[in-house]
Amino acid sequence: MSLSIHLSTDNVLTSSRECVVVGVYEDGSMTPSATALDQASQGQISALLQSGRAKGKPAATLLLPYLNGCNSAVLLVGAGKPNELSTGKYIKLVQAATKELNDRSVATAETYLSEIEVPGRSTAWKARQLVEQGESSLYVYDATKSKKAEAPKLNELAVAINATEAQSGNEALRHGQGIAAGVELAKSLANLPGNICTPTYLAEQAIALAADNSSILSTEVLDEDQMRALGMNCLLSVGAGSDQPSKLIVMNYKGLADDSKPYVFVGKGITFDTGGISLKPGEGMDEMKFDMGGAASVFGLMKALCELKLPLNVVGVVAAAENMPSGRATKPGDVVTTMSGQTVEILNTDAEGRLVLCDALTYVERFNPETVVDIATLTGACVIALGHHTSGLMANDDALADALYSAGQTSYDRCWRLPLYEEYQEQLDSNFADIPNIGGRPGGSITAACFLSRFTKGYRWAHLDIAGTAWTSGKAKGSTGRCVPLLTQYLLDRL
Ligand code: BES
Ligand code: MN
Ligand code: ZN
Repeated sequence: MSLSIHLSTDNVLTSSRECVVVGVYEDGSMTPSATALDQASQGQISALLQSGRAKGKPAATLLLPYLNGCNSAVLLVGAGKPNELSTGKYIKLVQAATKELNDRSVATAETYLSEIEVPGRSTAWKARQLVEQGESSLYVYDATKSKKAEAPKLNELAVAINATEAQSGNEALRHGQGIAAGVELAKSLANLPGNICTPTYLAEQAIALAADNSSILSTEVLDEDQMRALGMNCLLSVGAGSDQPSKLIVMNYKGLADDSKPYVFVGKGITFDTGGISLKPGEGMDEMKFDMGGAASVFGLMKALCELKLPLNVVGVVAAAENMPSGRATKPGDVVTTMSGQTVEILNTDAEGRLVLCDALTYVERFNPETVVDIATLTGACVIALGHHTSGLMANDDALADALYSAGQTSYDRCWRLPLYEEYQEQLDSNFADIPNIGGRPGGSITAACFLSRFTKGYRWAHLDIAGTAWTSGKAKGSTGRCVPLLTQYLLDRL
């Protein structure tokens, strides 16, 4: 977290910051602050827009080092057609503006971008995105580079807002900062390679997070012996082929003095997924270091909670293991007994996420949860179904599914529900155990969730499949920090 961010009610003409940031539209019209600058400069901005040197196209930027009548440099940011800018384009525009400020070595800026009309979004929401997207676009990974990244040039962002909206604006900035801190932690953990980010490393990070927030957060780590004693054989079968011991990490956040029912989150923490004996093809296998993205988002949520001090009780659980082939590894056809007593025929050792989650989902019954949400990079099928923009959502409770869907819309960390109709359960029949761990190719994300549903009958439960959303491939390879914004918003909506 590099930016100092606060509200300001400065005048755009006399700002004390190096640069003011204002929105201009494609049709030559402008946001109120851009209009004020245009008037003070006798129409210089209009002239630039008319000549095409400044563009109103969404996310176009033009830095004016000097403008008549204004104390600061001016960054013009294109905002499309008035009253038509989509939420997604607003987010892109905020990212582009922050990057431009930083790339041009602007240290202090005042942004008026929340003046841009975005249908359906409040000023406070737009201000919160200035924080979330601002922080996120300055994130650079350097943990395993010999040359460390320079600190970002941009270090202060003043968010200009009407004095009448100061209260909601301040709250929005605070929420944005909490979420941004959570996203940053999730990205940092998920981006680490599998040889550093092992189950033991994740456990250490959970202990460190609790040490930093000892008044509200405590961490308990169950080792393999403790899990064996509890009967978590299915979780243990995944790590059987690895030299890295599996861990069940339990983070207990107490934001309330009373014992009100906690909201429980369970993250898939496969720190590397080779597929096990059902080995994955080599190409792109490095990306399976991100198979702890669900765990990363649980860490991010706990971090956001600690920053925001939300008055709720929350338990974050991470089922951490490494899926490796070896002489001790689980083999296709092996049958294991889960903590619930149900037996599982492991037909494919690459369907390991559900195997670690099922025992963790049985374990969390002891918390008498208000709701349970698991988050997992669970199925390649989800990437095929929903691509990279939308996480899969499945649930045994309509109200919980609706609440998560709505939190996704608000935070723009979106999810879309897939059905768990009973007919799909028929794909989970085994000749040799109570259930197989795979249900065939049709509806692969749904049958994976059907498997989990066999372990979640005792509470209201939802499952988020983030296989397509947790990270980006290609040149910009890296963790996205999803779905920390969605999960945090879900809890904000419970207040
Ligand atoms: N971690 C993978 C799912 C995955 C695949 C996430 C690609 C992101 C991109 C998971 O453990 C897995 O291997 N699932 C299998 C299940 C299959 C064997 C039923 C899959 O999706 O192929
Ligand atoms: Mn797998
Ligand atoms: Zn996996």
